[in-house]
Amino acid sequence: MMTDPRVTLAPAVMWIALIAMPTCAYAMQSLEVLHWWTSSGEQQSAAVLKERLADRNLLWVDYPVRGGGGDSAMAVLKARVIDRSPPGAAQIIGPDIQHWAQLGFLSPLHHAQLDDTSLFYPVVNELIRVQGQTVAIPLSIHRINWMWLNPSVFERLDIPLPTTWSQLESSAPVLRAAGIIPLAHGNEPWQNATLFEIVLLSQAGASFYRQYFIDRDESALTDPSVVAAFEQLRTLKTLMDPHINQREWQQASRLVADGEAAVQIMGDWVKGEFSAWGLVPGEDYLCLPVPGTNEQHLYSIDTFVMFLDEPNAVPMPTFIDTLLSPDLQRDFSLAKGTIPARKDLPVTAVDDCSRASHHVFGQASQSGMLAPSIAHSMAMSPESEDAVFEIVHRFFNDERMTPELAAIQLAQTLRALK
Ligand code: GAL
Repeated sequence: MMTDPRVTLAPAVMWIALIAMPTCAYAMQSLEVLHWWTSSGEQQSAAVLKERLADRNLLWVDYPVRGGGGDSAMAVLKARVIDRSPPGAAQIIGPDIQHWAQLGFLSPLHHAQLDDTSLFYPVVNELIRVQGQTVAIPLSIHRINWMWLNPSVFERLDIPLPTTWSQLESSAPVLRAAGIIPLAHGNEPWQNATLFEIVLLSQAGASFYRQYFIDRDESALTDPSVVAAFEQLRTLKTLMDPHINQREWQQASRLVADGEAAVQIMGDWVKGEFSAWGLVPGEDYLCLPVPGTNEQHLYSIDTFVMFLDEPNAVPMPTFIDTLLSPDLQRDFSLAKGTIPARKDLPVTAVDDCSRASHHVFGQASQSGMLAPSIAHSMAMSPESEDAVFEIVHRFFNDERMTPELAAIQLAQTLRALK
């Protein structure tokens, strides 16, 4: 009696299958990563990292903490470290990296490319090294002083694209008559601080911005351009709709994408959001530098650190290698709306927004005209940042607070924190 060959072969097939089981099932290492990328565009970008790491047998165990700008993520991270349960890696950005490293929490990162300072811009090198030791991996660079516009709104209503503040303000009555919000915004402290720092940059330029926020020169702290910036912030609020409270930045972006709002002033993570929604740059949306900031680059740099812990020693080379690899940095930047942190990569396959950001960053980096974002942790301790947020957020929400008083209080705070 002929037996079914499939029956007699079955045990052999099973053995072969077991032996041939991809070794990655056993060799797969994992790394828990805390970050705050939870919007569509941010998740799409994080997915690029996860996929490339998985291709190299490193499983990114996601630990996302919702909240634009990362304040909530940093609060959760501190709680976990105090509880002696840090993640394997975390998105920590700006001088806060120095703080965490000096407290002894961060793994020194050993990697030939990471130690090659010629691969990175000076401001990147400054951020990722502490006392000569590299402690952070630079991923990409955002430009924050952008306006995002829905071109069909301007075309349909025959309104010129705004290249000055007065053009933006004078378009408001026509937009409102058509039922369109002139300026989409979310009334959160970090969003208000982002808008304020952009307006100050526009009013007074990058060198004043640094004299004011970084050097805190007495002449800068009392300069009338700060009052003018608060006045402009209050004017911009008149272009917004009444539903701004607790609106997340990506919800404001959605209003622009859907033609319910004309403009959003925000960093180019908005571009990542638009690309996640399938929008085409130059057709479905436009980017324009905020008036008066064409040659300025208000930046934030996304970096990752690894926490001291034996198991991290194993995934470390793979994690660093992958995040620094040219194709990852290029593909991640396309998804996130950024430019790569590595300066040795050719500017390829990018749209006008990223091309402009790359050009201006390169120029400004040479001429010392870069402006480190306060709202995005590029220039102050978290405590100083919170103090700035508090005053700007209170001014934004309390019409009784005069621009003069806000400028005095902000100067007092910056003086005290010097
Ligand atoms: C920034 C961060 C960006 C972006 C933004 C909004 O601080 O660097 O990657 O995601 O927050 O959440």
